[in-house]
Amino acid sequence: MPQLELVDLRANYGDVAVLERISFSVEKGEIISLIGPSGSGKSTLLRVLVGLLPPAAGSIRIDGQEIDYRNKLVLRQLRSRMAIVFQQFNLFQNMTVLANVTIAPIKVKGQAPAEAEAYARQLLDRVGLGNKLNAYPDQLSGGQQQRVAIARALALKPEIVLLDEVTSALDPELVNEVLDVIRLLAADGMTIFFVSHEMAFVREVSSKVIFMADGNVVESGTPAQIFDAPQQPRTQEFVSKILRH
Ligand SMILES: Nc1ncnc2c1ncn2[C@@H]1O[C@H](COP(=O)(O)OP(=O)(O)OP(=O)(O)O)[C@@H](O)[C@H]1O
Ligand SMILES: [Mg+2]
Repeated sequence: MPQLELVDLRANYGDVAVLERISFSVEKGEIISLIGPSGSGKSTLLRVLVGLLPPAAGSIRIDGQEIDYRNKLVLRQLRSRMAIVFQQFNLFQNMTVLANVTIAPIKVKGQAPAEAEAYARQLLDRVGLGNKLNAYPDQLSGGQQQRVAIARALALKPEIVLLDEVTSALDPELVNEVLDVIRLLAADGMTIFFVSHEMAFVREVSSKVIFMADGNVVESGTPAQIFDAPQQPRTQEFVSKILRH
């Protein structure tokens, strides 16, 4: 059984259709990269998955069970199964690194502070920030802040993480330290949705690449299929443009 299954998913902003009949499925541990031109609906798809925008039609199943996005309790449970990280890391500026990572487990899951802290220390060690536990976000570089944001997303032990352009706001020399963290997650068998302009990295880590345009999936396949032998004219055009850079 796939871990996640989207069937004819649609979403609108107001009366404008933004996603039209998206269908695909994801096995546990897959790394799914969403690529496509600006405005094609990549961020919107991630927002729908985590419940920030209700689907207009179609269904999403997790472990075979349809998610009822109108049910608040279901949404709350979903938040700890799927975590999203954005380009703008949105850390709490008035809290230390450690507090940023422990707040959700303590407040949302009611974990004991000592337990939340022990796990946060492990996570921060893994993202290379074990020595910054008591720093405040404005004392960190952009790459370090983004790694805290990833540790924070992992603190609720999600089954699936959604990463939306997590390296786009970073100076080029800081991009790799964040990509290294993502490699670690991938090696751990975490299911990851990845939206990024880092095409070399997309090619290296993805199990499946989904090319979107105008709110539709145009084509999907392995990195080699999409980058070396795209079948659809829209994909060919997009790929030839990015490879020229
Ligand atoms: N909050 C919103 N209200 C209305 N329309 C929106 C909103 N957010 C996005 N849109 C529209 O939905 C469409 C898809 O946007 P989305 O942000 O999903 O694209 P994207 O593929 O993530 O693009 P990018 O690569 O630029 O991030 C676009 O036409 C966009 O203008
Ligand atoms: Mg986007």
